[in-house]
Amino acid sequence: MIRVPLFRFPQLAPLLLLSLSILVVGCQRDAENAPAAAAGGGAPAEVADRDEHSYAEPAKVVTEDLALDIALDFDARTIAGTATYTLQWTDDSATQLVLDTRDLTISKVEGEAGGTWQPLQYALADADATLGSKLTIETPQRNARVRVTYVTAPEASGLQWLTPEMTEGKQLPFMFSQSQQIHARSWVPLQDTPAIRYTYTARVTARPDVMVLMSADNDPAAQRDGEYTFSMPQKIPSYLMAIAAGDLVFKPISGRAGVWAEPAMVDRAVAEFADTEKMIEVTEQLYGPYRWERYDLLILPPSFPYGGMENPRLSFITPTVIVGDKSLVSLIAHELAHSWSGNLVTFSSAKHGWLNEGFTSYVENRIVESVYGKDVSDMEYVIARNALRDSIASMPEATQALAVKPGTELDADGALSAVSYDKGAWFLQFLEQRFGRENFDAFLRGYFDHFAFQSITTEQFLEYAQANLFGKFPDTVTDAEIQEWVYAPGIPSYAPQVMSRNFGIVDSARLAWLGSPNLPPRQITDAWSTQEWLHFLDSLPQTLTVEQLAQLDAAYGFTGTDNGEIAMRWYPLAVRSGYTQANEALAAFTERVGRRKLIMPIYTALVQTEPGMALAKEIFARARPGYHPITTASVEALIAGATPAPAPAPAVEVPPAEDAAPTPAN
Ligand code: BES
Ligand code: ZN
Repeated sequence: MIRVPLFRFPQLAPLLLLSLSILVVGCQRDAENAPAAAAGGGAPAEVADRDEHSYAEPAKVVTEDLALDIALDFDARTIAGTATYTLQWTDDSATQLVLDTRDLTISKVEGEAGGTWQPLQYALADADATLGSKLTIETPQRNARVRVTYVTAPEASGLQWLTPEMTEGKQLPFMFSQSQQIHARSWVPLQDTPAIRYTYTARVTARPDVMVLMSADNDPAAQRDGEYTFSMPQKIPSYLMAIAAGDLVFKPISGRAGVWAEPAMVDRAVAEFADTEKMIEVTEQLYGPYRWERYDLLILPPSFPYGGMENPRLSFITPTVIVGDKSLVSLIAHELAHSWSGNLVTFSSAKHGWLNEGFTSYVENRIVESVYGKDVSDMEYVIARNALRDSIASMPEATQALAVKPGTELDADGALSAVSYDKGAWFLQFLEQRFGRENFDAFLRGYFDHFAFQSITTEQFLEYAQANLFGKFPDTVTDAEIQEWVYAPGIPSYAPQVMSRNFGIVDSARLAWLGSPNLPPRQITDAWSTQEWLHFLDSLPQTLTVEQLAQLDAAYGFTGTDNGEIAMRWYPLAVRSGYTQANEALAAFTERVGRRKLIMPIYTALVQTEPGMALAKEIFARARPGYHPITTASVEALIAGATPAPAPAPAVEVPPAEDAAPTPAN
C-alpha cells in the first residue's frame, strides 16, 4: 500500500518529529500560536501538511468566498455558469491561482482589476486519474476577485442525474451532488481541500417545476419558480458543497428541523425521523449550541451511494433507513453529530479522517444512548466492533492506524474504513472511561469551541488534548497508550470492552439452534429488534446448509426484506451457502439500491464463483443506468479484479465448533 516512500516528503520530517514530541512536551501556548489556530476561521496561513488530494496551494492564496451563478440543465445533464472567488493572498510573490477541476470545460477566466473584469491567461492540464485536471490561472496582479465560466460533463463524478422513471413519483427528473471526498471539483472549479474554508452564495436557475436545495439557507416555504438564491454565511470546506433538485416538498419535524422528500415519501420520513429535534437537544446539552440554524433532512432516491452525508443545514439521507420502526435512525444521529465533529471542527485532509468520522461515531453513540437508552447504544457498539475486527484482519498494517502516516496512499472514495469510524470512537470511549464522563464531556465541548470553524490535523488535536486533558489530569493515561491508539495498527489490548446483555440471549439462541433442529422459541425472537437480528446473522458460520437457510427464511422471512442492514448480511450468506432460492429477491434489491455499503458485500459474495459472477454481471448490466458514478466505479473494479472459482463451494453443515462459539460481546 505504501507506494510513495517517506523520503519524498522532506517537508514533513519536522511534523513527524513534532508529533512524536508533542505528548512529551505538549504546551498550550504552542497550540494557541499555531498558524491554523490563529487564522480565526479562515484557512491556516501555513498549512502544516499537504493535502495529497488537491492541487491547491493554500500557503499562497485561499478562497474566502465563492459566488456561484449557475443553471441546471436536465436534458443536457449539465451545470453551466460562473464561479467567482474572493481571494486572500498570503504570499506577496505568488503569481498563480491553482484550482482543482475534473471533467469541466472552462470557457473563460477573468480577474477584477480597478473595478472591471479583464481576461486572465490559464492552462488546464491533462487529467490525472485520481485528482482530475489542474487549472492554473495566471494572476500577476494577485486579483482580489477571479471569475471562471464553465460547464460540467454529463458524467460528472460528483453528480447524479435521474430520469423521471428513476424517481418515486415518476413525474419529474431529479439530480443531486455528492462532493465528499474529492468530487466537488467535478461540478465547481475550486480549491478542493478541507484545509480551506469559505462562505458561499449561489443563484441557481432550473426548470420551474423542480425545487432546488443546497447546503445553505433553504427556505421551507420556498416557491418553485425556476430561480433560487442561497447563502451559506458560515465558512465551510469544499466537500460540504451540495445541491439537489427534484419534486421535493417540505414537512416540519420541529421549529428548526424538517424533511425534504418526494411527496410519496415525506410522511413516512417525518414519522421515522420524528426524534430529530430530541437528538439536536441532547447534543446541544453535551457539546454546546447547534450553530447552523436549521437542521433539515433530504431524502434521496435509493441510488444515493452512501447512507448519509452531513451537508451543513441539510443532511442527505438514503431512503433505505426508512423501515417503519425507527430501528436505523442512528444514521440521523451520525449525520447530526457531524454538525459538531466535521462541519464545525474539520479534518484538514483525508489522512486525518478519524477526526471527522471517529469523533462523529462516538458522538452518535452518545446521542443514541441519551435518546434510546444504553442497551441500544451498547448493541450498536458491539455490532460495529465485531465488524471492525473482521475488517482489520484483512487490512495492511499501514492503514490500521487512526492517523494515516504521510506517504500512505489513500483511496479517496474508499475512506469509509471501519478504522477511522470505529477505532476512532473506541479511542474516545477509552479516554472517556479513563478521565471520567464529566471531565471528558467538558473537554470535548471545549475542543469544539476552541477549533470552531477551523480545519485541523491529528497533531493539533493531540496538542490541545495534552494541554487540556492529559496534562490536566496527569498519570491518567500514558504517552505510550496515546501513541499506540493513534499511530499503531490493531486495537490496544487494554481497550474498554462493551458487553451487551441483549446479545447474550441472541448468542444462546443461535448456539441452541445450531446444535439442534429447533429454532429459538417465538417469545424470544418476537422481542428482538433489528440490532439483535443483525447480531444473530453476523455470528452465524460463514456457510450453512440450504435446509438451514430455508428453515430460517420460512420462520423469519429474510428473503425480500425491506431492511437493507438485514439484506446486506442475509444475501451474502445465501450466496455463500448456495441458497439460490434467494436469487430473485437478491437481484431485485441489488438493482434497486445503489448504497455501496449495502450492495458491495452482495457483489463480493457473488463474484467468488462463476455462476455467481454471471449473476453479478447480469444484475450490474440492468442496474448500471440507475447507479451513481461512485457505485458504478466500485462494482466495475470489483468485477474486474475478481477470479471466480468454477463451481459453487459445496454447502457443508458446519457444526457449532470453535467458529460458532458465542461471539464475545466485545
Ligand atoms: N461523511 C460520511 C460519508 C462519506 C465519507 C462520504 C467519506 C465520502 C467519503 C457520512 O457521514 C457517513 O459516515 N455515512 C455513513 C453513515 C453511517 C456510518 C451511520 C454511511 O454512508 O454509511
Ligand atoms: Zn460520517
